[in-house]
Amino acid sequence: MRLECRKDEHGMQNEEGVDPVLRELVNDRADFDILNSLFVFSIFLPFPAFVFISTFSKTFIMYQTLLVSIENNILTITINRPDKLNALNKTVLDELNSAMNEVYHNAGIKSVIITGAGPKAFVAGADISEFNGLTKEQAIALAKRGQDTFSRIEDSPKPVIAAVNGFALGGGCELAMSCHFRIAAENAKFGQPEVNLGLIPGYGGTQRLTKLIGKGRAIELLIAANMIDANTALQYGLVNYVVAPEELLNKARSVLELINTKAPLAVAACIRLANIAETNRVAVENGFDEEVKMFGDCFITDDMKEGITAFLEKRKAVFSGK
Ligand code: COA
Repeated sequence: MRLECRKDEHGMQNEEGVDPVLRELVNDRADFDILNSLFVFSIFLPFPAFVFISTFSKTFIMYQTLLVSIENNILTITINRPDKLNALNKTVLDELNSAMNEVYHNAGIKSVIITGAGPKAFVAGADISEFNGLTKEQAIALAKRGQDTFSRIEDSPKPVIAAVNGFALGGGCELAMSCHFRIAAENAKFGQPEVNLGLIPGYGGTQRLTKLIGKGRAIELLIAANMIDANTALQYGLVNYVVAPEELLNKARSVLELINTKAPLAVAACIRLANIAETNRVAVENGFDEEVKMFGDCFITDDMKEGITAFLEKRKAVFSGK
């Protein structure tokens, strides 16, 4: 089977036009068996460093802000900043990129769960403390970085699902939406509260939310900054299942164990075609580009400075409309 894949900065398309990951999935079946039967891996480093470990000729990366484990060919990525409600700082974005590189290139990984550490949050947004003092150009670069990371998740030929275990706000909701589908715990809460900060979503949220739940509901969530609970998210089609918090990871694993029995190339093709069918791709890319530009525009407003300062000072923002 031959699949044409877009070439990206990670060189996903080789000279013959066949995605190397898809090729590996066909040629490297033995690796599945090794990992399937032998390997359970869980790691955490409390200091900023990448460490590379080779096991059964596979390289796994240890992260500062992610916990990574693999079992039955399912990689679980846990964003691990529970004291900051797993807010996405630059390190988390960098490490998510590295983890997705591993997903693309490691034949022992057939599918992925992304979740958050602790009982309270999946991810409560981009790290607001890193917004302070950014120039418009730096803000544009940050939004582009976030969008690229989340597109890398959405474009993965292997299924990536979000197991949403609490707040999925701002960048957290955007991260969940970049996954192929979502399973929510009963305590999950979804929202795009950026307008409270004088901001807009910058990691693809305006585009993906509108496509997932429709324009009317999306615009209300974006401009009223409401949070919706798990059952409302289910009703909106934002999540596929709602389960008890203690059942969340089991449910995610059982869904992926079924998918992992299917033909990997066909699974990859379905994901790619669903991404294409979602809407006219050119229009999507324009929408994403526009979001990056307008995210940068927010950074030269007084309201954004007031919104960020108020959050950091733990007070209510007073906006001037400037
Ligand atoms: N960025 C940076 N830090 C964040 C954060 C974010 N997006 N969300 C939460 N935190 C931090 C808080 O500052 C706090 O840190 P501290 O203990 O050092 O003061 C810690 O995480 C716990 O959050 P707290 O606000 O005390 O928890 P809560 O239960 O009272 O409220 C939320 C939970 C999610 C409602 C609240 O944290 C919140 O509104 N977060 C921001 C959501 C947001 O606007 N996201 C979009 C960002 S663009």
